[in-house]
Amino acid sequence: MSEYAGNDIALTPIGKIWTGFKSPADCPFNAHLNEGTSQIELDPAYLDGLFGLQDRATHLVVLYWFDQADRNRLQTSPPHVKGDDVFGVFALRAPHRPNPIALSTVEIKAIDGNVITVSGLDCCDGTFLLDLKPYVPAVDRQDTAIFNVTNNALWEETSPVR
Ligand SMILES: C[S@@+](CC[C@H](N)C(=O)[O-])C[C@H]1O[C@@H](n2cnc3c(N)ncnc32)[C@H](O)[C@@H]1O
Repeated sequence: MSEYAGNDIALTPIGKIWTGFKSPADCPFNAHLNEGTSQIELDPAYLDGLFGLQDRATHLVVLYWFDQADRNRLQTSPPHVKGDDVFGVFALRAPHRPNPIALSTVEIKAIDGNVITVSGLDCCDGTFLLDLKPYVPAVDRQDTAIFNVTNNALWEETSPVR
């Protein structure tokens, strides 16, 4: 048995996300493909945690839990990859992974009490929210970053790296 097995970590959801999508099959492949808006409903118990956000940040890093993911899958062929190419889940943004934590950066549209309206997310209605962090350009932007998307139907063939 691995030295990590058995060291389970308990997380308590801090809210829910509302997107209007009823199942994973209804969701866009990733958040940037959702041109609508979504609502993040924070448990009012955590309202104090929003203090200062509105004046400080335009974008939010959202962490959430994919409850319908296959946690045993370590390799998969994503639906938008052409052909049968298989990748490890740590080389993908696939929902299926041992700890199905999802991450998206979204724009804050409005904050109304415990409800934050953001640019569109890619999860089902009622998805559990794990954490919110401000997107900090000086920390998060990586000007030299490249992601090779050759053979990917989501991206233009003319631009193999993103
Ligand atoms: C490719 S993942 C990207 C998630 C996140 N933006 C990221 O990069 O970590 C988005 C897909 O997860 C799937 N999905 C959405 N809600 C889910 C849920 N509750 N459980 C499992 N899969 C889900 C949908 O098929 C959706 O297209």
